[in-house]
Amino acid sequence: MKNKTVMLLAGAALALTAGISGAQAAGDAAKGEKVFKKCKACHTLEAGDKHKTGPNLHGMFTRPAGKADGYKYTDGLAEADFNWDDESLDKWLANPKKFIKKTKMVLKLKKEDDRANVIAYLKEATK
Ligand code: HEC
Repeated sequence: MKNKTVMLLAGAALALTAGISGAQAAGDAAKGEKVFKKCKACHTLEAGDKHKTGPNLHGMFTRPAGKADGYKYTDGLAEADFNWDDESLDKWLANPKKFIKKTKMVLKLKKEDDRANVIAYLKEATK
């Protein structure tokens, strides 16, 4: 009887911890929309929107990196061979030139929370 209670408690504690860390990793799309104001000067999100200084980001999770139709990337991104996901985007947004040497995107998001939030927003807004 006593053992069972301990087991239940341990299970509940585990579930709680998993829940909390999951929420942190996922980011908050509403907050991310505000962060995206920093990106708007150079990026559009809707299907068919124009490219600006940077490419239109619509569908960026369903095509490989550096492959938006009709946008002229630097060699660095044009030759990229990966898909955008939480990990690659986190590195990219923290320091684009460190992640892809020859890129011309310069904006850095120094705060981890800003990166997680804007990534959550991008996932919704580029579908
Ligand atoms: C001053 C202009 C500018 C700003 C501000 C900017 N970017 Fe960019 N972004 C670019 C350019 C230019 C490229 C293409 C880089 C290249 O070809 O090397 C790019 C590329 C990207 C890509 C890769 C797209 C693809 O098709 O693979 C992503 C993702 C991206 N930017 C996200 C962001 C986010 C999120 C922000 C805001 C936090 C942001 N950018 C802010 C100019 C900008």
